[in-house]
Amino acid sequence: MSEAGKQALWGGRFEGASDPLFRRFNDSLPFDYRLAMEDIAGSIAWAKAIHRAGVLSPEELAQLLAALAELAVDIEKNPAAPLGSGEEDVHSWVESRLIKRVGTLGKKLHTGRSRNDQVATDLRLWTRSQIDARAGELVDLQRSLVDLARRHASCVIPGYTHLQRAQPVLLGHWCLAYVEMFDRDRARLADARRRVNVCPLGSGALAGTAYAVDRDQIARDLGFDAATANSLDAVSDRDFVVETLGALSLAAVHLSRMAEDMILYCTQEFGFLELSDAVSSGSSLMPQKKNPDSLELIRGKCGRIVGSHAAMTVTLKGLPLAYNKDMQEDKEPLFDAMESASLSLRMAAVVVANTSVREQRTLAAAKGGYSNATDLADYLVAKGVAFRESHEIVGRAVRFALAADKPLEDLTLDELRQFCPLIGEDVFAALAVESCLRKREVAGGTGPAAVSKAVESAARRLGMA
Ligand code: ARG
Repeated sequence: MSEAGKQALWGGRFEGASDPLFRRFNDSLPFDYRLAMEDIAGSIAWAKAIHRAGVLSPEELAQLLAALAELAVDIEKNPAAPLGSGEEDVHSWVESRLIKRVGTLGKKLHTGRSRNDQVATDLRLWTRSQIDARAGELVDLQRSLVDLARRHASCVIPGYTHLQRAQPVLLGHWCLAYVEMFDRDRARLADARRRVNVCPLGSGALAGTAYAVDRDQIARDLGFDAATANSLDAVSDRDFVVETLGALSLAAVHLSRMAEDMILYCTQEFGFLELSDAVSSGSSLMPQKKNPDSLELIRGKCGRIVGSHAAMTVTLKGLPLAYNKDMQEDKEPLFDAMESASLSLRMAAVVVANTSVREQRTLAAAKGGYSNATDLADYLVAKGVAFRESHEIVGRAVRFALAADKPLEDLTLDELRQFCPLIGEDVFAALAVESCLRKREVAGGTGPAAVSKAVESAARRLGMA
């Protein structure tokens, strides 16, 4: 038998050697080495469990735990240590290192355990800590948005529908729209985490372990909320991966939308925002260029993350119970999506902190585009005109103003009165951008008081001073 065959955990049943291409195709160590710490943590819990079940003596347990602790130190020093060992997967790597350290005793650890419940446990531990890290990064990004809102508390921008100027809003209101989305993303991750945080260990290969282990105790030892309830489900369930990727996908969509808003606002056509040199690139050909590459990559990475979610969903479709090797394909999409999401979230926070706002331009744009037309209609309503009629009247006034190439507030009182004699001198105050904002102090609206209240409440929620 070949070296490779001898090394494998399952060599006994085999006479022939593995084809080298099969090895490359089958081995997961090149990517699952990232689970080494989790595999060690799971192994520690399992060693304790089979000790309590009478499989290991106290001395054997102590020896195994010491060896596992040493292994953890090695991994901490060099997380890539397993690479190049030629082992099939991270589980084989941990076991073979143990055997190197404690000899035959290392061969006892796998008693009653399968790589099927082992890998499900490892992946849940890894996903749990990654979810917590993403939640922290979401908070950091939200804080940077609140900072931006505070730095430009009175900045007015045009609000858009159909990407046509619609009504003026405060920049802070725009910031808080994204803060809301990221709040929901955190909530979705927290919800997914509840179903991530259950412990498959003790499910064996599929039927449950034959040893008298205390599964609730194992779950507690690993910080899980509970043990899984059905061994067939426990080893074949990757819903937690799909759910986590789903939550990440939506967060990535939000990041991408924010990036798109900012990319537009950075164009010379809009000219609202300017990114600092720290987060922009130039062109190798066109000397004048400054491109928002950071934002474009945030928008671009969304595709990878959504793709990972789709890949995992389709991988599970049609899998019979229980474990199938297809499930090894869960790791790369999850690892890649987590890393992409982490980079994007951190980059977005840095970009927001490196954004300056050209308040004169945003104000001028907010005043243009007849975005106070609704307020003229509301003015007429206050004078007793039914809204549908005032809408019609203002529509005609806008057409007149367009032909004269003037904003509504630059028409004379006489010009305005041709459309409705109820219009008086007080109309000009109603058409001012400050008035358009002040009228919208409704909860959730863009009124300056409402926005400042919302900014401060977000700041408190995010633990900011
Ligand atoms: N590398 C495998 C995976 O990631 C570990 C489980 C292997 N189980 C098995 N029965 N071959 O899924």
